[in-house]
Amino acid sequence: MSRYLVAPAAGIAGEVTVPGDKSISHRALMFGALASGTTQVSGFLEGEDCLATLKAVASLGVGVRRPGPGRVEVDGVGLGGFSAPSGPLDMGNAGTAMRLFMGLLSAQPFDSVLVGDESLMRRPMERVAKPLRAMGARIETRDGRPPVRIAGGASLHGIRYEMPVASAQVKSAVLLAGLRSEGDTTVVEPAVTRDHTERMLQTFGVEVTARAGEVTLRPPQRLEAAQIIVPGDFSSAAFFIVAACIGGRAPFVVRGVGVNPTRTGLLEMLALMGADLRLVNHRSCGAEPVADVEVRPAPLRGVRVPARLVPLAIDEFPAFFVAAACADGETLVTGAEELRVKESDRIAVMAQGLTALGVRNEVLPDGLRIEGGPIAGGTVDSRGDHRVAMSFAVASLRASGPIGILDTANVATSFPGFVELARSAGLAIEERA
Ligand code: S3P
Repeated sequence: MSRYLVAPAAGIAGEVTVPGDKSISHRALMFGALASGTTQVSGFLEGEDCLATLKAVASLGVGVRRPGPGRVEVDGVGLGGFSAPSGPLDMGNAGTAMRLFMGLLSAQPFDSVLVGDESLMRRPMERVAKPLRAMGARIETRDGRPPVRIAGGASLHGIRYEMPVASAQVKSAVLLAGLRSEGDTTVVEPAVTRDHTERMLQTFGVEVTARAGEVTLRPPQRLEAAQIIVPGDFSSAAFFIVAACIGGRAPFVVRGVGVNPTRTGLLEMLALMGADLRLVNHRSCGAEPVADVEVRPAPLRGVRVPARLVPLAIDEFPAFFVAAACADGETLVTGAEELRVKESDRIAVMAQGLTALGVRNEVLPDGLRIEGGPIAGGTVDSRGDHRVAMSFAVASLRASGPIGILDTANVATSFPGFVELARSAGLAIEERA
């Protein structure tokens, strides 16, 4: 089992470019597979999660080539062109892959089974199965969890679905099922969630209309192959943004980051704490906005995180909790119960890690209260959660002794090359087998 050993360092400086966006990379493969013609993807995230999607797409009879680093060509088979896979589709650690494929596979003529790794086999799937059943899909879960069994040959009809949880994965799965349904499909969101599906479907020529709090998809005749340039993943940039806030020695820059406003809640949260952050060099990658993020050292103070920002920063809480540990005073996060059903229970696992490093905190059913203060060295268990592992690596910038981080192999699911990049910025990080 691999682990990190991270010694206290003098601080970080310079600039980094992070790998491609995970959410967008998954979608580029799936939508490319459904399109007519060849979709070209560049900046693709070659992390294990997206490679699981790539393998699954190939198992469905789609031609996929990787002509160079970050490049993928997908020979789309059209909306009705998937062929039956020869066995269960293994989604690895990737919740996004499993949930979006549930939507795609519900409307196929063949049966399919979706499985994943130990973490994914524990995650809730009924939140997706329920609305898909309401559309006519025939899906079974085991006590609400994978394996997910989808019976082929169902004919689907569009629905208007009011989501009980703010989830981009549920929204996306329902919209993808809607591609092959009779009539329009509308999803109503209780709060704004990431909108990559809507943006990219439009790029593939699908009529998707978003108005206040809801999105409607009209079933298309076909998807047109597209060229997708994947921006840097904001969720990977987040570790360096927090690192620069708590341990920057000079202005630090993360270049080429996707700054879709449905993803950048962390910037607002850090700004409320007093961080000095600027987005510069605005540009776009197709339908997605991109910028460089500049961070200057500034003292942080504790905050109460506004509820509206929670879904806009849902993957950034592990890193944010580390920023909170370095802030002056108390930080309170509530309304974040979704953190309990991510790759790990991120409230419990982060709280245990913070406690192991001497940071006072109180676990709440739906969040965490953190008292900023000194961080000691110690050993934390990431429980195989990539974002927890990277967050505690960043905490080393303020720690008084070395931090050992256990069970770090899953960093490769979202951020291949993290250790090397972090070292280039100034972290004293080593990986041990
Ligand atoms: C994702 C949506 C979010 C996020 C996940 C990726 C996506 O999950 O946590 O890492 O690509 O749609 P939920 O929609 O379940 O909140």
